[in-house]
Amino acid sequence: MTKTGLFISFEGIDGAGKSTHIDGLAAAFKAQGRQVTLTREPGGTPLAEKLREMVLHDAMDSLTEALLIFAARRDHLQNVIEPALARGDVVLCDRFTDATFAYQGSGRGFDLYVLEQLESWVQAAPNGLRQPDVTVWFELDPAIAAVRLAGARVPDRFEAQPVTFFQKVSDGYARRAEADAQRFVRLDGAQTREAVWQQLHHNFVQRGWLSALAA
Ligand code: TMP
Repeated sequence: MTKTGLFISFEGIDGAGKSTHIDGLAAAFKAQGRQVTLTREPGGTPLAEKLREMVLHDAMDSLTEALLIFAARRDHLQNVIEPALARGDVVLCDRFTDATFAYQGSGRGFDLYVLEQLESWVQAAPNGLRQPDVTVWFELDPAIAAVRLAGARVPDRFEAQPVTFFQKVSDGYARRAEADAQRFVRLDGAQTREAVWQQLHHNFVQRGWLSALAA
C-alpha cells in the first residue's frame, strides 16, 4: 500500500500559543502508530539552524532576510520535509512560507512579488508548488500576545517589534488565509488552551486523520 505523507504547518504571531498544540498533535499521531517528523522554520537542518540564528539576531536588510529564510527553507525541504513525506510521515512544521508573507511581506513591507518568485523556485515540486496540506493558524489579538510574551525571554529581532508590527503580520496571515481558505484552519487563540485543543483535535478527527477516542 502506498503511504501518504501529511504536511501540516502551524502559524500565528509570536505569543499566539501554537507550541503546546504542536507537541500534543505529535503525541496523538504517534499514539495511532504514525511516524511523526516534528520540525520548524527557519531551521530543521544543521545549515538552516545556523541561518536561523543569523535571521533572528543579526542586523540585515529586508532582501538579505528574505533570501536567508528561503535558503534555509530550501535546505529544510530537500533534506527533511521531502524525504519525510516520501516515507509517509506526518510532518508537523512550526511555521512555513505563510510566515514569510506575513512577517517579511506584510510586517516589514517587503516586495510580495519577490517573495512569490522565491517561493516558486524554492518550493518547486514535480506536481507544482510544495505547500502544506493544512495550515493551522492561531489567530490572536497582538495586544494580548504582547502581554503573554512580556518578560518571557530575551526577545529576538521579531519579538522585539512593537504591537503595530504584529498587527500588520496578523493582517498578512488573514490575507493568506482568505486567498487559500481550503488550506487554512483558523483557531481563536484567545480561548483557553483546552478549548483550542478540542477544536483542533475535532478538526483532525473530521478529516479522518485522528481517532475520536483519544482527545
Ligand atoms: P518561532 O519563534 O515561532 O520559532 O519563529 C521564529 C521567528 O522567525 C518568529 O518571530 C517569526 C520569524 N519568521 C519570519 O520572520 N519569517 C519566516 O518565514 C519564518 C518561518 C519565521
